[in-house]
Amino acid sequence: MTSAKGLRLVERDASGVDLAFRADVLAGLAEPQKAIPARWFYDDAGSALFEDITQLGEYYPTRAETEILSTRSAEIAELIGEGRAVVEFGSGSSVKTPLLLSAIQPSAYVPLDIAGDFLRASAAALSEKFPGLPVWPVEADFMRRVELPAEVANLPKLGFFPGSTIGNMIARTATDLLRSMKDTLGEGALLLIGMDLVKDEAVLLAAYDDADGVTARFNLNLATRINRELAGDIPLEKLRHEARWNDTFARIEMHLVATDDIAFTVGGEHYTMREGESIHTENSHKFTKRSSQLLLAAGGWEPRGRWTDEARQFSLVLAEAARPRSAP
Ligand code: AVI
Repeated sequence: MTSAKGLRLVERDASGVDLAFRADVLAGLAEPQKAIPARWFYDDAGSALFEDITQLGEYYPTRAETEILSTRSAEIAELIGEGRAVVEFGSGSSVKTPLLLSAIQPSAYVPLDIAGDFLRASAAALSEKFPGLPVWPVEADFMRRVELPAEVANLPKLGFFPGSTIGNMIARTATDLLRSMKDTLGEGALLLIGMDLVKDEAVLLAAYDDADGVTARFNLNLATRINRELAGDIPLEKLRHEARWNDTFARIEMHLVATDDIAFTVGGEHYTMREGESIHTENSHKFTKRSSQLLLAAGGWEPRGRWTDEARQFSLVLAEAARPRSAP
């Protein structure tokens, strides 16, 4: 899956504690609005729960984006042209990546991911499906510029970043990522990027608070992970999942809300929460045509094509690396 998960090299202390996880959690719990970066959702249990989320009736993004890739593939392929090396930011999904690769006659496929095992497994699966296609997996943190394999150096590039993972970043981080993608891909590159759309609040809230409670388990798993990996004693039974629409920032926020006054310890530090206070665990920004263009422009990309699913729930945007020029 393409995601914000695991985008870094892991440094551990002598007892095996992930130092970046510890630092993010301790700092985030000490803030007036407690907050923990969403990338920490994705331990093994969190990754499996996310896969379950993508199958939920209420969670439309995966279905809608797959629909676009299958029904609009001819138009998308025409704008992209043949012979590009597809550079996927993330290890690739078993459904979306093959749809793209079958549509466009690529010259090579380069999945980028920091999670090496996952990367190699999905690259091997892809090679089996596309026996003639050179596949060059690169284990790297794509939040920064990545050196691509020499074999694709002279090929035109297409970046692929599906899933609206860009929406999990605040504007500044998203802009930094778009710029480093441009640096990675080079001049003349194209980028095909999934961007989820602003829509009816009830539909959004249901997508992030499903009736079966899968998203609630996904959110609460973060607290379970903290207790297990950082010697925490957060009372899980006194936290509940909440999805909120933040209209100012056009985003769904996920929170873990205390149902009582609580006190707990994590990594030797003491914390308290009053009843109703929350830990903010995720942002999922939603876009309009304008806001997506603005974000892409800030990151150095000019839109060349845009498609939505039939119900207009999700968009897939094709953008070209903008040549540097002075304003206006
Ligand atoms: C990975 N990412 C694009 C998902 C989203 O929709 O923001 C993560 C997610 N969180 C709750 N449900 C899905």
